[in-house]
Amino acid sequence: ATPRNLTIAGTDYPTDTWTNVPQSILSQYGRKLHIQPDHPLSITRKLVESRFPGFRNHNTLPGVVTVDQNFDSLGFTSDHPGRSRTDTYYINKDTLLRTHTTAHEVDVFRQNSSDGWTLSADVYRRDAVDRSHYPVFHQMEGALTWDRSAFASRQACMDAIRESFDKLPKHDLVVEDPNPTFHAERNPLQDKYHSADEAEIVAAHLKRSLEDMVVAIFTAADKALIASGQSSESEKDPLKVRWVEAFFPHTSPSWEMEVWWRGDWLEVLGCGVIDQPLLIRANQLDRIGWAFGIGLERIAMLLFGIPDIRLFWSKDPRFLKQFTDAGPMKRFQPFSKHPPAPRDVAFWLPKTLKGDVVAETPASTASAPNSAGGQQTSSPRNNAVEAELAFHENDLMEIVRTIAGDSVEDVRLIDSFTHPKSNRRSLCYRIEYRSLERTLTTEEVNEMHERVCGEMVGRFGVEIR
Ligand code: PHE
Repeated sequence: ATPRNLTIAGTDYPTDTWTNVPQSILSQYGRKLHIQPDHPLSITRKLVESRFPGFRNHNTLPGVVTVDQNFDSLGFTSDHPGRSRTDTYYINKDTLLRTHTTAHEVDVFRQNSSDGWTLSADVYRRDAVDRSHYPVFHQMEGALTWDRSAFASRQACMDAIRESFDKLPKHDLVVEDPNPTFHAERNPLQDKYHSADEAEIVAAHLKRSLEDMVVAIFTAADKALIASGQSSESEKDPLKVRWVEAFFPHTSPSWEMEVWWRGDWLEVLGCGVIDQPLLIRANQLDRIGWAFGIGLERIAMLLFGIPDIRLFWSKDPRFLKQFTDAGPMKRFQPFSKHPPAPRDVAFWLPKTLKGDVVAETPASTASAPNSAGGQQTSSPRNNAVEAELAFHENDLMEIVRTIAGDSVEDVRLIDSFTHPKSNRRSLCYRIEYRSLERTLTTEEVNEMHERVCGEMVGRFGVEIR
């Protein structure tokens, strides 16, 4: 049962039918890993910040925000899938745990305290359970704007942006950028507010700035790899960047940046030319500029070779003592490997009167890691949120996390079929129990697994097969 109030960082919030944030999530609230000295997330944050000299760094904004801050003020439509209770942790119908650092853009722009700023923080999303997803992760937002009213003319402002662009560090990165800047439907020019030339120079400045940032990150990653003996100079294949058309409610045009590093295309960040109505809401009537959002775990995992996202939350000195703010970056050395304990749960979904009960297609394997540009833009999911007994894959994820805590590594759909006669749907998930710190006993794994099955029956009326 939901308590009448939730206390978060000393403040009481009334609950209602929207409340879906469990105690297990609230217990992680306020760890502030991104500013914990010598923590790999903090080291990563500082590395990114160092590529934006003169920017103001906001790193302590609280994670409880309004629906208005997180969605409405950013132009999210009322039916946007990111708002769903299957994806987002609500404290009540008006209040939630921020799902992205963009939630603070309007407030920071309203302060108008610096042209350039970054903002790092913990963000919260209901999501898959695997080695690259955790319901709490960290993002960094960055933005740079120019106040056109401070220049003699709009042309003079464009000249200043061009001049700033020319001073940005040069690089020899291979850049693939095949699409035109604008696309009439998907990525229109905001022609009510600025010209194509203005948007083009802002976009060029954005791309060059972020290319410089990834060169710095991946050069550091290569150095650490080579220093650890895990790779050699000769194995280094040239870094490449690819700009992919994207969609965000708060930028247009928008891109995702992908980086080719050591054999893989990695989705690294989302960015774009800031939505002008957003700036106007912040009382910045004449500003124009760019913004990006980057997931810090993803980058830190690559930089340090950290294989499992749960490690960031570890208080084990064998983990924490490996990293330091000072001196060259060192790769993570695994300190223990404990055996996995897989258990399957197969069940029939109940037939409800309230429409289809559906689950995800095997998404856990396909979904992007905790990052930016991921879930907040995903197409509507195949779910039935409002039906009483409706089951969404993220509900199972949460049951498993609540019961097993950090002793679960991965949950994935391994089988799904619909009985041809009864039309009933059967799903089978494989749950990989494994602790990073010790070997789990058979008894404790069985006990956790029985509780998971029990919750599935109790909460969703499934029939275990
Ligand atoms: N808010 C986006 C996300 O979390 C990332 C983003 C930030 C994109 C700023 C563009 C500009 O997915």
